[in-house]
Amino acid sequence: MKKAVYPGTFDPVTLGHLDIIERSSKIFDQVIVGILANQSKTPLFTVAERIDMLQRSTSHLDNIEIASFEGLLVDFVKQCDAQVIIRGLRAITDFEYEIQMAHTNRIMAPDLDTLFLTTSLNYAYLSSSTVREVGMLGGNIDIFLPPYAADKVREKYKIAKGEYL
Ligand code: PNS
Repeated sequence: MKKAVYPGTFDPVTLGHLDIIERSSKIFDQVIVGILANQSKTPLFTVAERIDMLQRSTSHLDNIEIASFEGLLVDFVKQCDAQVIIRGLRAITDFEYEIQMAHTNRIMAPDLDTLFLTTSLNYAYLSSSTVREVGMLGGNIDIFLPPYAADKVREKYKIAKGEYL
């Protein structure tokens, strides 16, 4: 059984993340979406909220599991009994950080590989932080997020649907 882990912060999950999850689900028998829990930066959503948003946004896929992890990613991947780490590559600016992370992980765990999927062109410049800012400033986030996640962002910023600038 080919298993992969798709790790990230997912604060919140975007349509770009969902695109990578859907495509990975066709390549692997099982994909575990791993939410990093021990981050220094304060997230907008709690881990429980991020799990909930990811579960609802991936409910149409039957080989996706949502979990959170602390500590090293390679340890989590081994605990999951997975062989591959999936990362989405948007623009060239992602490359340096991603290649550094992939090499570091591979030195620590030579049995694990990182597989990069290019994000679909529509989402090439999409990031959770940009969407949080658009949401905070009252812009339309429905074009960037799965419907449930968009509702949750509006709830956080106390903005009613349709009340856009
Ligand atoms: O969505 P992000 O913020 O780009 O995801 C980054 C993530 C969670 C994949 C990365 O920060 C990570 O793997 N953190 C776990 C700690 C770790 O293993 N660090 C060493 C690898 S560089």
